[in-house]
Amino acid sequence: MTEKDERRYHVSKSNKHPRSVRMTDIAVSAHNLHKSFPVPDATSVEVLHGISCSIEQGRMTSMVGPSGSGKSTALLCLAGLESATSGQVTLMGRDLNALSPAKIAKLYRDKVGFVFQSYNLVPYLSVRENIAVSDTLAGRRSDQRRLEEVLSRLRLESRANSLTSTLSGGEQQRVALGRILYRRPAIVFADEPTGALDTRSASVVLYELRRLADEGATVVLVTHDLNAASLADSVMILRDGHIISRLDSGISSEILLSIMNNAVEGE
Ligand SMILES: Nc1ncnc2c1ncn2[C@@H]1O[C@H](COP(=O)(O)OP(=O)(O)OP(=O)(O)O)[C@@H](O)[C@H]1O
Ligand SMILES: [Mg+2]
Repeated sequence: MTEKDERRYHVSKSNKHPRSVRMTDIAVSAHNLHKSFPVPDATSVEVLHGISCSIEQGRMTSMVGPSGSGKSTALLCLAGLESATSGQVTLMGRDLNALSPAKIAKLYRDKVGFVFQSYNLVPYLSVRENIAVSDTLAGRRSDQRRLEEVLSRLRLESRANSLTSTLSGGEQQRVALGRILYRRPAIVFADEPTGALDTRSASVVLYELRRLADEGATVVLVTHDLNAASLADSVMILRDGHIISRLDSGISSEILLSIMNNAVEGE
């Protein structure tokens, strides 16, 4: 990440050296993942052509690539929200092909968080109630101290009792992220979480995703924004349903752009 990237988002990568990675430190991995969708006038179209990757625990990994390159599909398959046509995904040590829907739901409840471009909030609940909704669903009392801390971290104190339907897009995305910060899942999948946001809200969201990884969570971020992608510890570049490159050091938006441009010229 260049100084320019850091200035743009007021975010800096942790200076911690990455821990040495053992097999047990892999949060999610894919082996030879294929994904096809049925299409009219054809049997199907293959969107992922045998993707294999490992995403380490406690690090932020981003996925970039042109529109239609398969980023969202790959993220959904890695997260188990979409089933692959063939291949294997291991999420938090569990083979997703071998898990029943009930076991997958339990895994999500305990360990996985999602942030999408659409906020998926409950419109008739307040900001505070949305952030602690996992406790309500589980029939638990919410942790007031943690709730106040999350509201403050996301600069939402003054809107704490507002209905989320009355908030701006940026505020709503901060509430969606608040649910994650409150619940502290081990792994967070985010697909274009800043895609519809102004720079200030995007900065808050990216800062908090980066901080989650610095605090030990695994963060997988799909983004169009190369400046945002360069905040990660590792970047996968997708093109036409393949991972064409992976960077684990020396990541900057300029380098990512140059790799993507070279891939287009090399066609
Ligand atoms: N449910 C679906 N049915 C049919 N085709 C699909 C479906 N979902 C995705 N596709 C196709 O798969 C390809 C990859 O889509 P995907 O959404 O993964 O791309 P993306 O890299 O996330 O693009 P963007 O940056 O625009 O979000 C596209 O050609 C898309 O039209
Ligand atoms: Mg997408």
